[in-house]
Amino acid sequence: MTMTPSTPPSGSTPSGGAVVDLAPTRRVELVVGPGGVGKTTVAAALALRAAVAGRRTVVVTIDPSRRLAQALGVDGDKPAGTIVQVEHAGAILDCLVLDTQRTFDTIVRTHSPSAQAGEAMLANPIYRAMVRYLGGALEYAAIAQVHMLAAAGQHDLIVLDTPPTANAIEFLEAPAQISEVANNPAAKFLSQSGGIGMRFLGLGSGLMLKALEAIGGGAFIGDLGRFLGDFGQVLGEFQRRAGALAGLLTSPSTGVVLTTSATDFSVREALAFLAVLAQRGLRIDAVVLNRFDSQVPRWPGDAAVEAALGAAATREGMTVDVKAIALRMAQLRGAVERQANSAQRGATELRARWPTTPVCTVARMDPPPTSVDELYALASALWPTVRR
Ligand SMILES: Nc1ncnc2c1ncn2[C@@H]1O[C@H](COP(=O)(O)OP(=O)(O)O)[C@@H](O)[C@H]1O
Ligand SMILES: [Mg+2]
Repeated sequence: MTMTPSTPPSGSTPSGGAVVDLAPTRRVELVVGPGGVGKTTVAAALALRAAVAGRRTVVVTIDPSRRLAQALGVDGDKPAGTIVQVEHAGAILDCLVLDTQRTFDTIVRTHSPSAQAGEAMLANPIYRAMVRYLGGALEYAAIAQVHMLAAAGQHDLIVLDTPPTANAIEFLEAPAQISEVANNPAAKFLSQSGGIGMRFLGLGSGLMLKALEAIGGGAFIGDLGRFLGDFGQVLGEFQRRAGALAGLLTSPSTGVVLTTSATDFSVREALAFLAVLAQRGLRIDAVVLNRFDSQVPRWPGDAAVEAALGAAATREGMTVDVKAIALRMAQLRGAVERQANSAQRGATELRARWPTTPVCTVARMDPPPTSVDELYALASALWPTVRR
């Protein structure tokens, strides 16, 4: 069934070209892309749109900007990792800010052989350092959080705003990476031989070492031994999950919205990333080119501009170099035009290389979309219809 779209707020539509149309079979939507392109904004907008269309939706955000957090109600005194509800057009959207530590702690608590063993591990400084400093921990927690929400079965759609990884591919590798730490032969050796083994290995294992460096020297050998002992008990669970999490990424009910900007660099990066996503069996639902600059101010001609500037200067009683100012304005307009052309080329190239994937554009909005109404305006243009 196709939903009749609710009327988007009046004003210019922020999107152009192709639109997103999420299949009803999608249960998880991953919003991926480089840092600062608008992932959090697009994820919140998509989730809001789906909620208004009647899907029970939760958005998991990561480090939302202060204004967006205010709009979603996740900046209050509720701790991160708890669901907060925002209401729009009679619909409720569940929002939560990812809390890496809390997500790991939940896995440990749930899968320790005893409550006492669980608490010992939670209090261990090596464990806490691992969660804070280990590469991939945030990404792992993000996917694990989605997995927990999916298992809870309270939502029709889970939208994940992914971490701002420098290289978005790291995100896909996080489950395997954490499993590698847990399964590292050096770690296993150490857990049996303690400090002697550590010296024997020259503190070898790179990934483990990062966590160790973070907490400094001193007592860590004893902590490490205890950590590895305790960790061994929940290790199996982390490993089992790594497989389940990797499976979630490639499940037919999981889709990806790649968000990026339309600069030459971003488009090249997006093309490379799309290829990797497809090769790994992920389903790409849309590419969103955010803050798409396509408006070029009209130029009435040098003479007309100089005349207008001259008239304005006379009116204000100012003496100015009219020709120099007109030249500067023409240069600025040229730069804007080049940028718009390059954005257009980027969109064209993406469409040519991915002809069956919707490549959507979202105009730069002024002010940036931070209120719930503004997010909804963005989303309604991007997703005019949402199938239930
Ligand atoms: N279409 C848009 N027009 C104008 N500003 C935008 C748009 N989309 C996002 N922004 C702004 O850009 C900044 C980065 O967006 P954000 O969603 O936090 O990106 P990311 O999650 O990728 O780091 C924020 O200040 C946001 O309000
Ligand atoms: Mg963000």
